[in-house]
Amino acid sequence: MSAPNKTYDPVEVSALSDEAVASARDAAVAAIAAAPDLDALKAVRVEHAGDRSPLALANREIGALPPAAKAEAGKRVGQARAAVKRALEEREVVLAAERDERVLVEEAVDVTLPVDRRPRGARHPLTTLMERIEDVFLAMGYEIAEGPEVETEWHNFDALNIAPDHPARSMQDTFFVGSPDSGVVLRTHTSPVQVRSMLQRPLPIYVICPGRVYRTDELDATHTPVFHQVEGLVVDEGITMGDLKGTLDHFASAMFGAGIVTRLRPSYFPFTEPSAEVDLQCFVCRGASVGDPHRPCRTCSSEGWIEWGGCGMVNPRVLAACGIDTQRYTGFAFGMGIERTLMFRHGVTDMRDMVEGDARFTLAFGTEV
Ligand code: DAH
Repeated sequence: MSAPNKTYDPVEVSALSDEAVASARDAAVAAIAAAPDLDALKAVRVEHAGDRSPLALANREIGALPPAAKAEAGKRVGQARAAVKRALEEREVVLAAERDERVLVEEAVDVTLPVDRRPRGARHPLTTLMERIEDVFLAMGYEIAEGPEVETEWHNFDALNIAPDHPARSMQDTFFVGSPDSGVVLRTHTSPVQVRSMLQRPLPIYVICPGRVYRTDELDATHTPVFHQVEGLVVDEGITMGDLKGTLDHFASAMFGAGIVTRLRPSYFPFTEPSAEVDLQCFVCRGASVGDPHRPCRTCSSEGWIEWGGCGMVNPRVLAACGIDTQRYTGFAFGMGIERTLMFRHGVTDMRDMVEGDARFTLAFGTEV
């Protein structure tokens, strides 16, 4: 800013000359009109209306004028600055509207487009059923036991008191890994985990073991060469068949509804003595269809009971093979097919549906993960 100056005529202060003020104003207005967008307008504002713009500097020069000249110069500069300010405001309105319009087009969302319909992954109903079964037994204090699917013949047969000439051992039933005399098989049931548990765990033993098993069956509506079983094993002092029955009844009602019980039918398994087949009370008719031709039940074929699995008191020969004192300890064991359980729990009529991996089958069970 120049020093106070009482003698200078305004026209002699070059920044305040008519032409200078007018050309600063015109330059500002032209730059404003040419600003293509709001960012550019911001730069124009700094350059032509900011503190260091020609008109702002001219305004400061007014103070240096003699009083008589101040009013006239002040008016001219003021009008020029007002014109620039107005041009800025008007241009800003226009550019903001243009920006809004562009954003509406560029950021438009077509709400009619189909959403991403890829289904969420879900676990197989056999897996979730096995976990439900585990939960029932974990709540009673059991532990989960596991064993290998490639198993030795000794664990799968010998230690379970299954004789060398037992038909189950034949190549018709058992997948051998390598040659038939390799001594290594794909386990044909989950019962070898009983043996492994008794060899490895401290007594008493309360374990549940769901797992995959293999047999040389053709795939059809009721068979599959790869399927699942759940094995239960308890070894403790004073265990009786009453404990077995109570445990199976609890298992049945936890799976199929309160009050559903089991029935034991005498049977034979080499690894249990005595042995029994476990029947499940029909959870659909609860026996009401038996002998009543007017109320047929498809679930149990009007029998009132459904064959569920096998069970028994652990054969002392098996306990002994695992080094357990048979004078002090007794135990019970049971084994059920998981596919079978899923079939009647959910009305699945064809086992192939569980194997083929068609998502339309599994999705009917929901997308539980
Ligand atoms: N392992 C037998 C099978 O695969 C099922 C079975 C029967 C398991 C009786 C047991 C049992 O634990 O006590 O057919």
